[in-house]
Amino acid sequence: MPNAISGFSKLTKSEKIEWLIGTYFSDREAARSLVEQYWNADENIQKLHDEFIENTITNYYLPLGVAPNFLINNKLYTIPMAIEESSVVAAASKAAKFWLDRGGFKAEVISTEKIGQVHFAYNGSFNNLQSFFESIKPKLIEDTKAITKNMERRGGGILDIELRDKTEDLENYYQLHATFETLDAMGANFINSCLEQFAKTFKQEAEKQLNSELDVVMSILSNYVPNCLVRAEVSCPIEDLKSKDISNPKLFAQKFKQAVNIAEVEPYRAVTHNKGIMNGIDAVVLATGNDFRAVEAGVHAYASKDGSYKSLTHCSIENNTFRFWIEIPLALGTVGGLTTLHPLVKFALEMLENPTAKDLMQIVAVAGLAQNFAAVKSLTTTGIQEGHMKMHLLNILNQFEATSEEKKKIVEHFKTNVVTHSAVVEAIEKIRKI
Ligand code: MEV
Repeated sequence: MPNAISGFSKLTKSEKIEWLIGTYFSDREAARSLVEQYWNADENIQKLHDEFIENTITNYYLPLGVAPNFLINNKLYTIPMAIEESSVVAAASKAAKFWLDRGGFKAEVISTEKIGQVHFAYNGSFNNLQSFFESIKPKLIEDTKAITKNMERRGGGILDIELRDKTEDLENYYQLHATFETLDAMGANFINSCLEQFAKTFKQEAEKQLNSELDVVMSILSNYVPNCLVRAEVSCPIEDLKSKDISNPKLFAQKFKQAVNIAEVEPYRAVTHNKGIMNGIDAVVLATGNDFRAVEAGVHAYASKDGSYKSLTHCSIENNTFRFWIEIPLALGTVGGLTTLHPLVKFALEMLENPTAKDLMQIVAVAGLAQNFAAVKSLTTTGIQEGHMKMHLLNILNQFEATSEEKKKIVEHFKTNVVTHSAVVEAIEKIRKI
């Protein structure tokens, strides 16, 4: 076991790497050259990445792919996706093309409200607390003016602050529950700064005006944003679903709907169904420099809002029309944070024609819906492995360090044969024996 190290963050980058390599790696030269191989040749770009976080030693690459042909509210987009899973971008592109020929995607933002809370303990009378809160509410807002000035000028800011009695859940527990409009910013810093100022004013005034003890526990935004909602949908007459892989559109529509209905009532399936949706959502969220952990946490909480975990997408067949839609909470930003810092994020946003946060909510929701359409379509027709393994083929070939010539021959062979790991290994061995 290595010894603990103190003052690690104060070491230089090369000292950190030397410590790491000396402590954990048997082939030190190989480890060192791997770390260095992933550095950017441009020192400025490397410095930028070094400074995103603490203790950076190198860069961790993910592919940035694009899925073209997304028609959203009659506008064509090419969607950037940062993801490692081999079939995701291919599936998104396929779904985009399928719906391009059937009127495209329709999307609308339903609401854009963000939430933050000051959690505090108080052991006095609720009536006293409530009148105190009402009397100082204007001051809570007034004292944040330095923080909110710019946001207000653009039309956003604090929407409301409520006092909430949570003592039924936890002894002495109350909240200031605040709502915000943060426009094109995700708003985490703005909200947290406002909350910390509320907490400061609240505590100071409580000490002057209340007889009972009031203790602020913490002030933080909530990543649960059920009122920051977007809806996206596709629809077409059932017979228009007919295509190369759908010979019987009525049967397809019924089976597809049944699969979605299963995910609406069966949590084990719902989790995997929603994971497929998040394949599309996370990839765009990451490519556009947004916080995918925040989005994940909020989306899954929303999926369980009715008391059990459910599908985020829904399907109906009415009046001979197939309709498939998603409704999800997405707190996204297109200004601030990484959006102005990371060169590839800027590139991704420019590719999307510099969307507003609302535009981006629609694009991301569509990516999730498209991904889910592609997955459920495969699952209810050919099964998922056919497409998956075709895409995985290259990964297996790379594991075996296949040459371009070998890859060409083997890809050709598997155009008409089922891809399995052992079949690929067999094919490589066969070629290499010749
Ligand atoms: C794999 O990453 C995602 C799927 O499992 C989603 C689904 O089952 O709907 C294919």
